[in-house]
Parts: sequence; structure tokens; C-alpha cells
Amino acid sequence: MTLVAATPSHAAALAAIHAESFPPPDRWDRDAIAALLAQPGIIALIDPAGGMVIARVAFDEAEILTLAVCPGARRSGLGRALMDEACRCAARAGAASMFLEVSDRNAAALRLYGSCGFVQVGLRRDYYSNGSSALVMRKTLEYVS
Ligand SMILES: CC(C)(COP(=O)(O)OP(=O)(O)OC[C@H]1O[C@@H](n2cnc3c(N)ncnc32)[C@H](O)[C@@H]1OP(=O)(O)O)[C@@H](O)C(=O)NCCC(=O)NCCS
Repeated sequence: MTLVAATPSHAAALAAIHAESFPPPDRWDRDAIAALLAQPGIIALIDPAGGMVIARVAFDEAEILTLAVCPGARRSGLGRALMDEACRCAARAGAASMFLEVSDRNAAALRLYGSCGFVQVGLRRDYYSNGSSALVMRKTLEYVS
């Protein structure tokens, strides 16, 4: 794994990974990603092999905004590595908890998040445009220098 901190100069590469990983209505374009990266509290990581994660830290809470691994790079541990590093970065930035939302139909992500230590703390019914519900999940972060 070659995870690097993403800057606005990575926006096109991040958008390309996002586009390969999500269906058209859910894709984030380069400009949207560049604008997000310019906001305070953003943690963004990219692996040139085809993975990216963006999280936001606000005070003692953090949230995964998106996570994507290109189909050709899946099941080799990249998703887990991105999640683990995003959690470490958020803890170093002062977050005590990481939150995320995930569709109850996204079996791969649910397995990944569960194995990373996230537990369900809420449910938003009919949350997504395809009618699926969102599980709200949380993980306690431990600061490791
Ligand atoms: C979810 C996603 C990021 C996983 O990325 P990945 O690099 O394949 O994940 P990893 O290789 O690190 O897998 C870690 C664990 O997650 C689980 N997992 C991953 N993909 C899975 C699948 N298709 N089915 C079941 N479990 C899966 C497994 O427990 C796996 O461990 P194992 O390989 O030892 O069995 C990737 O499938 C993806 O980008 N999907 C489309 C975008 C998306 O849904 N993002 C999340 C939105 S909330």
C-alpha cells in the first residue's frame, strides 16, 4: 500500500477513482472534490493503485464522507488500510469518535466496517435514492502517536 495525503492537486485522480467505484448518480466530480479538500478539517488519502478516502474532523468527532476502491483493486486489503489510516489521522487531529453512514444493501462495506470495529448506533429509513436505509455507525478512536 502507498497511501499518501491528498491535496487539491489530486482532485482529478480522486474523482477518477470515485467514478470507477460508484454508479453515475453517486459520483463526485473533480470540482466538487477540490472544493471539499479546501475546507477545514478534511482528511483525504489516496493510493495510486486505486483507492481513496475522505473524512472530516470537527472538534472531537470525525466522519467518513466517502470511501472508494476501484473494482480491479478490491479484496486486497486496500479498503481496510484506508479506513485504518483515516481513523489514525482523525485521532491525531483530536477526534474521539469516527462516524459513517452506509446503505443497508452494501454488503461489502458493512462487512468491512464491522471488521474495522464500527458498530451501528442509528438507522435512517429510506435514506438513499434507491430506497435503501442508512445505518449510522460509530467507532471509538484511540490516539496512537
Ligand atoms: C467497500 C470497499 C471500499 C471495500 O474495499 P476493498 O479494498 O475491497 O476492501 P478490503 O480488501 O480491505 O476488505 C476488507 C474486508 O471487507 C470485507 N469485504 C470487502 N469486500 C467484500 C465483499 N465484496 N463481500 C463481502 N465482504 C467484503 C471482507 O471482510 C474483507 O476482508 P477479507 O478480504 O479478509 O475477507 C469497495 O468494495 C468499494 O469501493 N465499493 C464501492 C464503493 C462503496 O461502497 N464505498 C463505501 C460506501 S459507504
